[in-house]
Amino acid sequence: MKPELGVCYYPEHWPEAMWAEDAARMVESGLTWVRIGEFAWSRMEPKPGELCFDWLDRAIETLGAAGLKVVLGTPTATPPRWMLEKHPDMLAVDALGQPRKFGSRRHYCFSHRGYMQECTRITRIMGERYGRNSHVAAWQIDNEYGCHDTTISYSPAALQAFQQWLADQYGSIDSLNKAWGNVFWSMDYDRFDQIDLPNLTVTDPNPAHVLAFRRFSSDQVVAFNKAQVDVLRPLTDVPLLHNYMARILEFDHFKVGQDLDIATWDSYPIGFLSDRLEADEAHKTAFLQQGDPDMQAFHHDLYRAVGRGRWWVMEQQPGPVNWAPYNPAPLPGMVRLWSLEAVAHGAEVVSYFRWRQAAFAQEQMHAGLLTPSNRPAPALTEVQQTAETLAAIGEVVQEKAEVAILFDYASEWAWATQPQGAGFDYFRLVFSAYRALRRAGLSVDFVSANDIPSNSYKMIFAPGLATLGDELERQLAESCDLVLFGPRSGAITHDFRIPETGRPGLTGFHCEVDLVETLPPNVQREVIGGGAALHWIERLSGTAPDLLTFVDGTSALKGENSLWYLAGFPDELLWDRIIEMAALKTGVVLHPMPMGLRRRETARYTFVINYNATPVEWNGQVIGACNVAIRKKDTPEED
Ligand code: GAL
Repeated sequence: MKPELGVCYYPEHWPEAMWAEDAARMVESGLTWVRIGEFAWSRMEPKPGELCFDWLDRAIETLGAAGLKVVLGTPTATPPRWMLEKHPDMLAVDALGQPRKFGSRRHYCFSHRGYMQECTRITRIMGERYGRNSHVAAWQIDNEYGCHDTTISYSPAALQAFQQWLADQYGSIDSLNKAWGNVFWSMDYDRFDQIDLPNLTVTDPNPAHVLAFRRFSSDQVVAFNKAQVDVLRPLTDVPLLHNYMARILEFDHFKVGQDLDIATWDSYPIGFLSDRLEADEAHKTAFLQQGDPDMQAFHHDLYRAVGRGRWWVMEQQPGPVNWAPYNPAPLPGMVRLWSLEAVAHGAEVVSYFRWRQAAFAQEQMHAGLLTPSNRPAPALTEVQQTAETLAAIGEVVQEKAEVAILFDYASEWAWATQPQGAGFDYFRLVFSAYRALRRAGLSVDFVSANDIPSNSYKMIFAPGLATLGDELERQLAESCDLVLFGPRSGAITHDFRIPETGRPGLTGFHCEVDLVETLPPNVQREVIGGGAALHWIERLSGTAPDLLTFVDGTSALKGENSLWYLAGFPDELLWDRIIEMAALKTGVVLHPMPMGLRRRETARYTFVINYNATPVEWNGQVIGACNVAIRKKDTPEED
């Protein structure tokens, strides 16, 4: 499959007389896909039951007739105002008990049965109308689950659904009390209907209660998505997809992904650098107008796993956005670079947000490919250049990486529930491992704890994996030559208790965690030979040999057979050392990269991606500022 380009378009924002010319210009610019419809419920159904689809019929026909393939969105992220009159209790409620009011978007609670039925109703109407329309080539369900902090809701609907979920999970109130340890502080319950949502408590609620609520909240997203999938499946044969986000971790994307055909995500590199990433000021300044060199790739690789190999970028930043604290413009070349980087990681489609900048409402300061007055914005030329490059390189076939990271959403929920130290964060830990692997020039795959492929990787990194069972330990040990655990791996059971066998609870590894300490950001513990641990440090004992030692003589890394266990959150130098040691053990060849330069291997090409604002010389080749060198394997070739 050759990679293609697309764009997000809102025909309901523009006079109908503009549609045909827009469509023709999209095609001229090298775009082949167009996503529409995902926020247009008030135009599809202006009053309850009063359907108005003729405008959408004409929009699809106009775009399709120009040769574009349409992704049609279900509009369920934006329930119209009348919906609230029908279902006054459908709003999500925040942790302080305040309703999330009408007037923007995503103002619904995933647990509200009445709203869910409205969603399946409108989805069925759309599926029956467009499911076999030859121009509709994919469906997007809803828009960005979890955006604006909307996964977790403390509404009456959520309370009722949670109590039922607990009864299904635990069977009897006694087993719930035992599992959660409710004897502590006399928190025992007599009945499931006494259990409240874990907000507004005097001090911390029981972490087992919170973790159960986090699992429940994730399951509600999975069920909400599946309800629409079940309606659409019999009505269409084209792929169903959803657009996920960066570092939104409140629901298990692997589980949502199992019900869909393609994972897509929305990539806003410059916005993420300023509002979603821990990094020092020098780093944020160096990449201010390019975005972080690993953040996009991390999500490309993660969502490739979520989509079981099939994934797109659904929304690509084309210029300044409107939502970060500061919104600089991309440096020349970056829109093309981000697009080609996505393709290097296997994107089937890269689609830009949005076609023309809106002249009204919340996002009027958000750039598009055209200005509000219909002139080309700077990104349009880069889109055309990207289309030319894609035409020249043809298919980009992916290869399995030698290294994988195990990513586990439940570990994020667990460690957010009881962080123990302010600097300890699951995403941050995993991202630091990913960054280090990329600094070593490696391509990385992701795997989920529920789906470990057998015999497939040289190394798997599973830092911070909260819950480990014998079965998962066995699968991991069998699937690769080296598994790296820790810190905080195997530290709790499913019900948030310290395992009876102790931590990390690994059967094939003679090591125990005797003590845990957390440190403020300005303090670190040095490792003999270089590098240090930050934020989180464990005191290990046991006969598994020490591979690295802290300056105070305690273990920093232990290793036994194919299992290694790390005692702290490594700084960059410590990660680099560990990766060198792991590469020596497993025969993985490293390609150390200069700052801001990254490489990605595919079957026929090596992509070398320069996020720096200056050219970089590497391996005898100069890679231009904000540029990508695409080399055919064996025959060096200029981009
Ligand atoms: C995304 C969203 C779009 C638009 C965009 C602006 O999160 O899906 O609808 O709001 O951000 O950057």
